[in-house]
Amino acid sequence: MTSSASIALHTDPSLFPDLEVYAVAGNPIGHSKSPLIHQRFAEQAQQAMHYGRLQPDLNGFAKAAKAFFAAGGKGMNVTVPFKLDAQEFADEVSARARLAGAVNTLWMRDGKIYGDNTDGAGLVRDLLAQGIALEQARILLIGAGGAARGVIGPLLEQSPKCLVIANRSSAKADELVKLFANLAASQEVALESRTLADLEDVSKTPYPFDVVINATAAGLSGESPLTTKAVSNIFTPSSFAYDMVYGKTTVFMQQALQRGARISDGLGMLVEQAADAFLLWRGAKLASCIDPRAVLAKLRS
Ligand code: ATR
Repeated sequence: MTSSASIALHTDPSLFPDLEVYAVAGNPIGHSKSPLIHQRFAEQAQQAMHYGRLQPDLNGFAKAAKAFFAAGGKGMNVTVPFKLDAQEFADEVSARARLAGAVNTLWMRDGKIYGDNTDGAGLVRDLLAQGIALEQARILLIGAGGAARGVIGPLLEQSPKCLVIANRSSAKADELVKLFANLAASQEVALESRTLADLEDVSKTPYPFDVVINATAAGLSGESPLTTKAVSNIFTPSSFAYDMVYGKTTVFMQQALQRGARISDGLGMLVEQAADAFLLWRGAKLASCIDPRAVLAKLRS
């Protein structure tokens, strides 16, 4: 089943004997922009490679990944819902991926599978490229699932003044605060948790934020994690609101706009995490050959 699915999606490495083959694995994967992004990087850096899609069965990631690498695949990006499976699949996992609790980039070297996570670095680079100062900033991260966890380490490394993690249910946000307490202390960042309800309450959330990142998937179902009261408490017109979802102006983004804040979707994060994966695979020396912001501009046009 796995290899026939791969062939149907043109991702079986044996179909491309003269090219080094990469793929993005997810379920569903049909609408992924990753093949287009990596094709652009390959053109910019003059690399002969093929990048396709792979859609393993929901409980079939390890089998599909094993078949892909056994057939000569060089590297794989991994997206929803397989980032935990990818972490388990890798023989060696980077420290940042371990802290993120997920792997989004795999590659084979000397018969071993390596795993890393470039999501958080991608988010940070996109924010900085948009002119958002993170050092000494007050940052609010909404959500405490896998997407939130993946970006906490790189955000803390930017030495913001504080990082507040707000979630519907407090237990998960509390867990993340515990998990990242040492890193926060070493960066001298005040790392705190809140419930979403706390965001409405001036006594619990007494100041607005410079940067508010929505790491929940609420936007995909037309919802926002924020009530009107929370919106007026946490945003000012100088805030920057970032939704990790891309391809639409979410309710969260509309709420921020109504408060006069600047907004961004997560398309830049997608491109920047892909750039890091590309360099892990093809060599850091190609960094000066690729232009992620040009790829992003092209995707938006
Ligand atoms: P992901 O890997 O995308 O982060 P996840 O691990 O299932 O997915 O986590 C989903 C996150 O979005 C959680 O923080 C969840 O809040 P709970 O922990 O309270 O469930 C949050 N979430 C999802 N839908 C939401 C909504 N409509 N409003 C607020 N938070 C929402």
